[in-house]
Amino acid sequence: MQKIAMLGSGFIGRFYAESIHGQRSRDRVTAIYARREASARKFATDYGCDFWSTNMEEVIAHPDTTMVCIALPNNVHEEAVLLCAKHKKAVLCTKPLGRTAEEALRMMQAVEEAGIFGGYLEDLCYTPKFLKALESVKNGALGRILWAKSREAHPGPHSEWFWDIEQAGGGCILDLGCHCIEIARGFIGKDIKPVEVMCWADTQVKPIDAEDHAIALVKYENGAIGQFETSWTFRGGMDLRDEVMGTEGTIWINNFLRTGLEMYTSGKGADYVAEKAESNTGWLFPVGDEVNDLGYNHMFTDMFNAAEAGREPAETFYDGYVVNAVIDAAYRSSRSKQWEPVQLPVWRGQEGLTKPSTLVDYDDDHYLIKQEMTHDGRNKLILKNKHSGKISERDV
Ligand SMILES: NC(=O)c1ccc[n+]([C@@H]2O[C@H](COP(=O)([O-])OP(=O)(O)OC[C@H]3O[C@@H](n4cnc5c(N)ncnc54)[C@H](O)[C@@H]3O)[C@@H](O)[C@H]2O)c1
Repeated sequence: MQKIAMLGSGFIGRFYAESIHGQRSRDRVTAIYARREASARKFATDYGCDFWSTNMEEVIAHPDTTMVCIALPNNVHEEAVLLCAKHKKAVLCTKPLGRTAEEALRMMQAVEEAGIFGGYLEDLCYTPKFLKALESVKNGALGRILWAKSREAHPGPHSEWFWDIEQAGGGCILDLGCHCIEIARGFIGKDIKPVEVMCWADTQVKPIDAEDHAIALVKYENGAIGQFETSWTFRGGMDLRDEVMGTEGTIWINNFLRTGLEMYTSGKGADYVAEKAESNTGWLFPVGDEVNDLGYNHMFTDMFNAAEAGREPAETFYDGYVVNAVIDAAYRSSRSKQWEPVQLPVWRGQEGLTKPSTLVDYDDDHYLIKQEMTHDGRNKLILKNKHSGKISERDV
């Protein structure tokens, strides 16, 4: 059983607590840190915590705390991680790990040097749909992965600090791109090095210094391409979609809107619909079990199992650091308007990969480009001559 100290009593702290206490779970949130006494007390009452404090270190160091869960604004993650390292407490940190890769690397090193368990709370790499899709990709159902695209777009976050570039560290690229980058990395292969990023970012709507809309391409060393689309200006709820294309197949995932549960209401009796839903009347897309469908349940199960078995979880501080390095390159590219290299002073995956050959032999003299059945019943081949390079077609 884990006795968890939650740092932060806001939006995600509550989602995490709902998930940890869900169903008949034996793990408990036993302590809460919040800046304001009233928030700490309210959270402690709502979730039955034994201990609350407005002093972060006191909550981390509390003798009952077996694991700390960081649900604080981005600019406070490092301070919290360093305190966990100081008190040798296992630590889980929400996304993004750092505001920059430099910050994330310091956190990773602090955790590794202290010899404590570290887990990166990247919930969207634990949704039931992602886990099922990843299993198919790993089993080879899609062949070699060529392109992995992920989109997170919604009308913007709910607390003031997100909109302040100093506290948040960035706009929608950092806030939402972190999910998308890790999703694509998962499908392409976490041991494949992201090498370059080309990014467009702009502030199209909101009166802020950070970007509120961005699209980027992430090139991987094996020739695969990742793509992310992020926005804080999207209208209509929270759009969470992934697409994977391989030499043998395709996957489309829709995690949140239009997931198969559609409802119309005039508004009578309407209440909460789903995270970031903009309306509670008309046609709606409720979500069956939000904490499960967003990956929180599978995520905490993996984290607790990993900590207790002495193994790494599927999402580590190292993963959070790699994601931050891709984000840093995206910001540089959005300014330079050039492909920018991903700077990874620490890299633990494969090195020196090249794009594999995909030539399919048809016979001694030809490569097969395509074979198809046409609407007039012909079985048509398109071939390339190995010597002359000439393209031809024939019926078989
Ligand atoms: N899907 C996800 O994984 C997901 C979703 C939302 C937020 N998050 C992440 O969770 C973190 C918190 O976001 P949130 O939406 O819960 O924010 P929030 O504003 O709802 O809650 C933040 C909490 O931290 C406290 N806090 C605020 N400023 C602080 C400071 N300077 N020092 C100490 N405590 C402070 C607040 O009192 C509050 O309890 C962020 O890093 C965010 O990116 C993750």
